[in-house]
Amino acid sequence: MIFVTGGAGFIGANFVLDWCRERASAGEPVLNIDLLTYAGNTENLAPLADSPLHRFVRADIADQPAIAALLAEHRPRAVLHFAAESHVDRSILGPDAFVQTNVVGTFRLLEAARAYWSGLEGAEKAAFRFLHVSTDEVYGTLGPSDPAFSETTAYAPNSPYSASKAASDHLVRAYHHTYGLPVLTTNCSNNYGPHQFPEKLIPLVLHRALRGEPLPVYGDGLQVRDWLYVADHCRAIARVLEAGTPGEVYNVGGLNEQTNLSVVHLLCDLLDAARPRADGASYRGQIAFVRDRPGHDRRYAIDARKIERELGWRPRETFATGLKKTVDWYLAHPEWVEHVTTGAYREWNERQYAGRAARAPAAEASA
Ligand code: NAD
Ligand code: DAU
Repeated sequence: MIFVTGGAGFIGANFVLDWCRERASAGEPVLNIDLLTYAGNTENLAPLADSPLHRFVRADIADQPAIAALLAEHRPRAVLHFAAESHVDRSILGPDAFVQTNVVGTFRLLEAARAYWSGLEGAEKAAFRFLHVSTDEVYGTLGPSDPAFSETTAYAPNSPYSASKAASDHLVRAYHHTYGLPVLTTNCSNNYGPHQFPEKLIPLVLHRALRGEPLPVYGDGLQVRDWLYVADHCRAIARVLEAGTPGEVYNVGGLNEQTNLSVVHLLCDLLDAARPRADGASYRGQIAFVRDRPGHDRRYAIDARKIERELGWRPRETFATGLKKTVDWYLAHPEWVEHVTTGAYREWNERQYAGRAARAPAAEASA
């Protein structure tokens, strides 16, 4: 089996859903370890309620004894580490949780994985992998004509979020260099798609547009991001797990640089077609330019030639197809958005999992 951390969040849940659907015949189960912070939503995993391939455990990656007990009990061939505090604006308001989860949590998880891997032997030891899911934000910001971030671009993180992710990347690297732990790191650009928490630009704009609220565009809206459909990111991670070389870093991107303003315009145009406003006006009329994010990175761009050359990965979705799928998903799942924005999903999480956190030595798992 494999372990996934953060599998109730946006990308982790998409990964687990895809893994269980696409690998049903291979029958390799996933143990999904998530603390269920505000970003963790077990409703994302509802399609797996009856799946024999999925087990969920509520635990903190920083709870090393709990993680060690789970590793000893289930003996996974890999740990795929998605769990993190992930929202830049939150990191500006309250950096503590970012240092705790992204730095200390990753360190504790690495320690547990190192102890477990050290006790393995032969083929099991050789096959083990620790895959760390990271971000392009660790490389800092680009000017308009700078070359895209490659795996050898120097780190220059600018927000507490990206600094904490950079620290975690360095720890992962050091565990390979010093202890030989077979790690893989992916640094990916902005994801979008189903199940993304509506604090992030694309789901936030969709949610607010439909409610007739202003669509907040930071600064001049000309900041550039490279958008990747989440299923393509999940395929990249599965491919790196399958064939990546331990110790190597793989940049993952969408070949799709867009200004924020053009993303918001495209979303308005898709909504105008799919769910026209009652007054016949365009949703573009709701755009409101607001004060910029402090320290806002101007441009990200990813050079993804290494993963294409070495592992044969390329994104399948274009921005047009991916954005259309995303808009359709949010329009088809108003209850998901409502549960998230009203906080009802948290009540569900608490009812389901309160008092059931994994604790060493008897970690409690539930399907
Ligand atoms: P998310 O915020 O949607 O989900 C994070 C998940 O981690 C949640 O389910 C949360 O409950 C869980 N979690 C938080 N702290 C935890 C802890 N201490 N122990 C166990 N679980 C904990 O994040 P996401 O957007 O799905 O991002 C997943 C990973 O991918 C992160 O590492 C992020 O840095 C990285 N990443 C994200 C993007 C993006 O565009 N969203 C792009 C590149 C890389
Ligand atoms: O690049 C990868 C990163 O992408 C991930 O590591 C992060 O976890 C993920 O949150 C994302 O970070 P961003 O800060 O780029 O994403 P966000 O959706 O918050 O913002 C995208 C852009 O849109 C950014 O330039 C800020 C801008 N923005 C965002 C919000 C929420 C707005 O203009 N208005 C908004 O209301």
